[in-house]
Amino acid sequence: MNCYCCSDIHIDHYCKKNINDISVFDTYIEKYLLPADILFIAGDISDNKDIFINFVSYVSSKYKYVIYTIGNHDMNVRKNSLYATIPKYYSTSLQKLADIDNALSIFPNIIRLNNSTIIENVPIGGTMGMCDFEYAEHGLHLGKQLALCEWQTWYDNIVWNHMNNDPISILNDEQNKLNIIVNTKPKIILTHFAPIEIGIQPKYAKYLTSSFFYFYAKKYLDNLGNDTYWICGHTHDAAKLDYINSSGNVIHILLNPIGYPSELPYDINNLSKSDFLINI
Ligand SMILES: [Fe+2]
Ligand SMILES: [Fe+2]
Repeated sequence: MNCYCCSDIHIDHYCKKNINDISVFDTYIEKYLLPADILFIAGDISDNKDIFINFVSYVSSKYKYVIYTIGNHDMNVRKNSLYATIPKYYSTSLQKLADIDNALSIFPNIIRLNNSTIIENVPIGGTMGMCDFEYAEHGLHLGKQLALCEWQTWYDNIVWNHMNNDPISILNDEQNKLNIIVNTKPKIILTHFAPIEIGIQPKYAKYLTSSFFYFYAKKYLDNLGNDTYWICGHTHDAAKLDYINSSGNVIHILLNPIGYPSELPYDINNLSKSDFLINI
């Protein structure tokens, strides 16, 4: 099966006025996606719930399967997001996700990963993931506490209402899910937050906020089998890395954030969208 791997659709940036304008979706699909059997999206589809549902249901008519994880923007429950007004206020992020799940449940080819599943004999797993603040400690030598303090003013803490917005509880919850997923030896794994092993671009290396985008993933990567694909997102530069784990297995890490074309995501690593079309 051919699979197109991407993240960070941010479709609400493109249809601020008319959430039902199919021509916006068609233009987006034509410009930024590629035809395949499966479309994998590693989170950040839309802050706006209705645009999220409209886009995912529409794009599901173009692929045999649309398989996605939630990103930090999809967890937004505030009335006024940066990019689109959210028609219904949600008291918790999980309530919003439940409404999205419910609306999309009539489409059998749309799958939200919050655990492991098997699609046509291929084990697949995914979850949002979470930053672990460790880059502040090990990369910047500033201490984790400083990053945790700074996170109080960060976008996620402002727009989420999830597990009391306690970042350590959210991290533990995501780590538990990842451990379970990794133990199933998936062929494909999706997380919105990125394994730091993909590398931080030098232009961002000195920023404390870089510790909000990644987590140290060696313990998971070391348990994965040869030729596993790990699709992630959240940062704005496209990247591709063949990581060799402690057993000598190759893990292909793919980061293809397509919703920020003005930032020229492919330029820095000399990639193009066809680099994210895989065959499994
Ligand atoms: Fe994003
Ligand atoms: Fe994100």
